[in-house]
Amino acid sequence: MIQRPLSLYALCGSLRQASTSRRLLEALRAASPDGVSIEICDLIGDLPIFNPDSEGEKTPAIVTAFAAKIRDADGLIVSCPEYAHGIPGGFKNALDWLVSRDEVPFKPLMVAHASHRGDLVLEQLDEVLRTMSLRIVQEAFLRVPIAGKSEETQAAILMEARENGALRASLSRFVQAIAADR
Ligand SMILES: Cc1cc2nc3c(=O)[nH]c(=O)nc-3n(C[C@H](O)[C@H](O)[C@H](O)COP(=O)(O)O)c2cc1C
Repeated sequence: MIQRPLSLYALCGSLRQASTSRRLLEALRAASPDGVSIEICDLIGDLPIFNPDSEGEKTPAIVTAFAAKIRDADGLIVSCPEYAHGIPGGFKNALDWLVSRDEVPFKPLMVAHASHRGDLVLEQLDEVLRTMSLRIVQEAFLRVPIAGKSEETQAAILMEARENGALRASLSRFVQAIAADR
């Protein structure tokens, strides 16, 4: 059976220009195997603050566009730093817009973590994303500790993760979990 290409949509919890979370997503994109594409979301920083009064017919166009990207994706990748032992407000805001909608339930999701710390945000993401009925593929979890490192060290660690197959291995486990459900 010929499978169509898989498209993954990557959500970064940091808006920082030099974000290590984003850098990890970019490395995953560069390591993605044939037939798998990864688009990194650039909408999160422009979403208005969530207000349930603005749902339904009043949903802002950018939220509709964001939700359409989620709907069209075969799976999501989340990379999110820890802020004050929790989920950064901007990222939680993006998730809140999706809570009452029908795009996310049962959507496969993989977490990629760019820090040797931040286990509390991992716990919170797990709780929040499960509550939203996303299907977290635990075996695809990836940790590449580049946060707090110099540019050169980050590049070296990411190169190592690419060359030793760690990036590809996580993506493969994620893709297999998605394919098994098709
Ligand atoms: C406001 C703020 C709060 C932070 N709080 C924590 C924290 O509670 N625990 C932690 O491990 N790191 C914390 N950090 C460090 C970030 O997780 C770290 O800088 C990370 O690299 C940020 O992700 P980014 O590189 O993708 O922007 C905090 C950083 C900021 C800016």
